[in-house]
Amino acid sequence: MKEIDWKNLSFGYIKTDYNVRCYYRDGKWGALELCSEETINLHMAAVCLHYGQEAFEGLKAFRGKDGKIRIFRPEENAARLQSTCRGILMPELSTEKFVEAVKMVVKANERFIPPYGTGASLYIRPLLIGTSAQVGVHPSEDYLFVIFVTPVGPYFKGGFATNPYVITRDYDRSAPLGTGIYKVGGNYAASLKANKLAHDAGYSCEFYLDAKEKKYIDECGAANFFGIKNNTYVTPKSTSILPSVTNKSLMQLAEDMGLKVERRQIPEEELETFEEAGACGTAAVISPIERIDDPEKNKSYVFSKDGKPGPISTKLFKKLQGIQLGDEPDIHNWVTIID
Ligand code: PLP
Ligand code: COI
Repeated sequence: MKEIDWKNLSFGYIKTDYNVRCYYRDGKWGALELCSEETINLHMAAVCLHYGQEAFEGLKAFRGKDGKIRIFRPEENAARLQSTCRGILMPELSTEKFVEAVKMVVKANERFIPPYGTGASLYIRPLLIGTSAQVGVHPSEDYLFVIFVTPVGPYFKGGFATNPYVITRDYDRSAPLGTGIYKVGGNYAASLKANKLAHDAGYSCEFYLDAKEKKYIDECGAANFFGIKNNTYVTPKSTSILPSVTNKSLMQLAEDMGLKVERRQIPEEELETFEEAGACGTAAVISPIERIDDPEKNKSYVFSKDGKPGPISTKLFKKLQGIQLGDEPDIHNWVTIID
């Protein structure tokens, strides 16, 4: 294998040795299969290609100082995939099978897990697609579940470094009663244009308000939002954002640190009052927000005047990363260790 420059990895795709597959046929899931083929043989009329009946997940594995491999909260991703399956009428995989598949693919690709201390990790990408050939708009009969892995570096520029975001008023990624709470590809297709415009204008990411009233904070591209003020961790409650495993974990860690936690609607104007703000997710981890611009209102909400992450965001980041790497005690039993 070509030497991997672990410290300078981007959030991209690098070929690994194996993926794990599982087929749903005749109304039941088959056995997990280890596969070394990168491509999928798919019918051109497959439901996933035309009607978007597909879901994905994202989680990470880490190499600790003790040499052990730790997978962060795979049961939570299993549960969210099950919720997505109920949302777009796909057959659910049991948590047990999902976690077994995750462990299998991580173990089989052990040599691709970035070494401790590099800041990189092994990104795990489960994918579930409707594979039956049909042209009528109704759920597929057959499905394929695949998990591949790839070593990754930071998702946003600089990793744990502040970045600027921009409110998009011309686009929505999901509707209030739509599929925003599910991890389906269509939400991401809907975000591509706003994301490109934000990048072209020099921003790290686009920032969404609620689609109905354009009044409340939703989320930041492919990450949830949190703000800190008066020793309180505040994060949006919305029917159109993805329930983030990272955000759920940070809410718990914030509480453990003695912060108050509020999950509620956040009007845009309240941005003015936050002492710190961040985007959080598996890929983003915590990406501290330098400022959020609202060009239409000619406003700029600034959270970091010196360009540095704030003290509470830093504390949360260190704690989360410490648990993921095994440097901190895993008091909530979040980590699955593979020997
Ligand atoms: N919001 C969206 C739209 C996402 O794609 C992601 C990434 O998974 C998140 C939030 C963060 O979720 P998690 O922390 O579970 O990765
Ligand atoms: C994740 O954080 O796992 C994501 O899915 C974000 C993105 C790469 C879509």
